[in-house]
Amino acid sequence: MAQKKILLTGGLGYIGSHIIASMEDPSLVVIADNCSNCDIEQIDRLKQLVALERHQVYLVDCTDLNAFEVIFKENEIDTVIHLAGLKAVGESVAKPIEYYTNNLNATLNVLTLCDRYHVNRLIFSSSATVYGPQVSPMNESMTLLKTTNPYAETKAISERMIEDYCVVHPEMAATSLRYFNPVGAHPSGIIGEFPKGIPNNLLPYVQQVASGKRPWLNVFGNDYETSDGTPIRDYIHVLDLASAHLCVLKSPQAGYRIYNVGTGVGTSVLGLVHAFEDANQLTIKTKITDRRSGDVAESTADVSKIKKELGWVSHYTIQDICKDAWNFEQKHSK
Ligand code: UFG
Repeated sequence: MAQKKILLTGGLGYIGSHIIASMEDPSLVVIADNCSNCDIEQIDRLKQLVALERHQVYLVDCTDLNAFEVIFKENEIDTVIHLAGLKAVGESVAKPIEYYTNNLNATLNVLTLCDRYHVNRLIFSSSATVYGPQVSPMNESMTLLKTTNPYAETKAISERMIEDYCVVHPEMAATSLRYFNPVGAHPSGIIGEFPKGIPNNLLPYVQQVASGKRPWLNVFGNDYETSDGTPIRDYIHVLDLASAHLCVLKSPQAGYRIYNVGTGVGTSVLGLVHAFEDANQLTIKTKITDRRSGDVAESTADVSKIKKELGWVSHYTIQDICKDAWNFEQKHSK
């Protein structure tokens, strides 16, 4: 009988590559990626870390049902970890149709093929952004309100599609993981986040200031109602995030579940800048500018549910995050 495989859509991306690098048996992995936000060399980087064969990688777009289906015909897929999707909040406001078309069709195709090929395990890459402007710490029982951008809406709608699918497929074990702010890199420095163009996110921008690629960091507002006036986020090391996926893989349970994946600890923008300076013994030039539209003052996770039900907790500290991020930047900045 053919070996049962785990399909990672978007498996060459930032989160997917760290999940694969954390797996006990990467030979079980099949990757679907259209390389829209990564480059093909990512396969060679992963091969430096784990025994991955080229035939395990399918360069397909999950929104192309026929091309995507080939993977299910050629492999006995047992589990799908669905990570593929467009993910820039600001871009989604400018290109809503592109975001709805891409992200929702990808999820619909995943569910269509799970149905057709009797795949009963699914982990969905969701986001804390589905909570919108609610009070932190946010917990899974909060009612989701209208979010602030199309990207967030695609995550919230995808979650509902999966939940509705589970109603008519009681054998399905589906889990949405709501990521807070994934940051950092593999300690080897071989894989990490490779932003295209100007980074949108805080830590990749800080890294580029440290390496001299950018002259200073714009701090988007210091007049929020927080301890130092800058917004607070729950930054989670990407390897902790990867371990949460592996934890869900080990404990499948029929039905639909939702878990926050964060640390439960908040760090302000300036707090992260200072942690980066301390951890790496360097100075980051900053300038305070206007607020960025759509930002909330605080977004931190209530992580009690995933701890109680799965025994998962984060391990990496902000110092680890900053060291690994800088190690990665130094290896890749040209
Ligand atoms: N920030 C700056 N300067 C920058 C970049 C960011 O001051 O150059 C600030 C932002 O204003 C915000 C904080 O840093 O206050 C964090 O911003 P990020 O862009 O790094 O992260 P967000 O919290 O805005 O969003 C991220 C992901 C989303 C995800 C969300 C979940 O980008 O995809 O976390 O909480 F949905």
